[in-house]
Amino acid sequence: MKIMVVGGGGREHAIIKKLKENKSIDKIYALPGNGGIAKDAECVNIGAKDIEGIAKFAAEKGIDFAVVAPDDPLVLGAVDKLTEMGIPCFGPKKNAAIIEGSKVFSKNLMKKYGIPTAAYEVFNDMDAALTYLDTAPIPTVIKADGLALGKGVIIAFTREEAKAAVRSMMEDKIFGESGNNIVIEEFLEGPEVSVLSFTDGKTVVPMVSSMDHKRAGDNDTGLNTGGMGTIAPNPYYTKEIADECMKTIFLPTIDAMNKEGRTFSGCLYFGLMLTQNGPKVIEYNCRFGDPETQVVLPLLESDLYTIMKAVADGKLSETEVKFSNGACCCVVMASAGYPEKYQTGYEISFPEKLEAFEEIYVAGAKADGNAVLTAGGRVLGAVSKADDLKTAVKRAYALTEKITFENAYKRNDIGKRALSVFEKE
Ligand code: AMP
Ligand code: GLY
Repeated sequence: MKIMVVGGGGREHAIIKKLKENKSIDKIYALPGNGGIAKDAECVNIGAKDIEGIAKFAAEKGIDFAVVAPDDPLVLGAVDKLTEMGIPCFGPKKNAAIIEGSKVFSKNLMKKYGIPTAAYEVFNDMDAALTYLDTAPIPTVIKADGLALGKGVIIAFTREEAKAAVRSMMEDKIFGESGNNIVIEEFLEGPEVSVLSFTDGKTVVPMVSSMDHKRAGDNDTGLNTGGMGTIAPNPYYTKEIADECMKTIFLPTIDAMNKEGRTFSGCLYFGLMLTQNGPKVIEYNCRFGDPETQVVLPLLESDLYTIMKAVADGKLSETEVKFSNGACCCVVMASAGYPEKYQTGYEISFPEKLEAFEEIYVAGAKADGNAVLTAGGRVLGAVSKADDLKTAVKRAYALTEKITFENAYKRNDIGKRALSVFEKE
């Protein structure tokens, strides 16, 4: 069987390594993959947004199953195109991917179906937004409607900052067309939890919960990034909260999408905030999170391909999805300067052998003969499992010591906040 995975980051590397555990898979292509993924799949130089190129390649190679991992191709309709060609796919169609593709859509969906989220207003007119901000509660959160590489959210602690954010999005168009419409929403507080789920539109099976660390610097300082590290499970997310989320958020979202004629099939990511008034949705993503996937999939004990195929076939309820009781930590090693300016092209030295509990998922790298060179902001994730979180964190940091490249940067406090929960007990 031949599988194609669209995408080329650490998340895709984790998906590919997990898929490889299934012995009926003979060949995995990564489009475009990266220099680290090249050790586990055949990388093909077709960009994740090149829908026509992806479709043509799938037809030429006789691909049996496709996994479309990143947001862009999903929102652009890659799954629609491949499905029309008769290729089974894991991932939502375009009309369901809009749950991430448009914040206005997702906010209106939650309002219509009573799914808990921050109170909000939508604006397509800059003057109206600025007038609203004269009296809106502060702090406030300004969000560009469309995809903005995870950067389209500005938290403003003063009216001036809020107005500057609106002008930057609607006048200066820092996020391009994504800023034509904006959402201004209530500032919420509480621990954040990421819950990825498998769903075929009928059944929803949450995966083990996780916690991202989005800021560049220790103790959540500095700029927002794509994610500097993750841990799983998230200790704030108790069984009681999980049950409440299933009832008030997960099932209602699946139902809402069905009622809108936008059945969601694939991985639906719930970005939650555990507020004093209960769990609320901060964002939906129409895909696996990055770097959440890098700590969630190592804990999956069931076969990933079997689950993905069951999702594509609408038979998720008949399939076992089992996670281990252990914990996992991913520490991202980045190029110093990320998420702003950074240098690339440095050779990465990897340990010769990994322990059974270790993984390295490569994100921004390119192959150069036998060498692997840094080629992006986030270069790789050093991942370790253990029976408990404390050991997993310690092991992940120990693994980073065995990986070297010039200008490497990492946070030193991944997992610290999560571990403080146990200290309080
Ligand atoms: P998003 O791109 O929607 O994930 O937002 C990025 C980050 O901004 C989230 O992970 C939160 O930390 C923060 N954020 C988004 N919306 C809110 C909100 N309403 N209140 C407080 N923080 C928020
Ligand atoms: N880690 C957050 C995301 O994938 O959007």
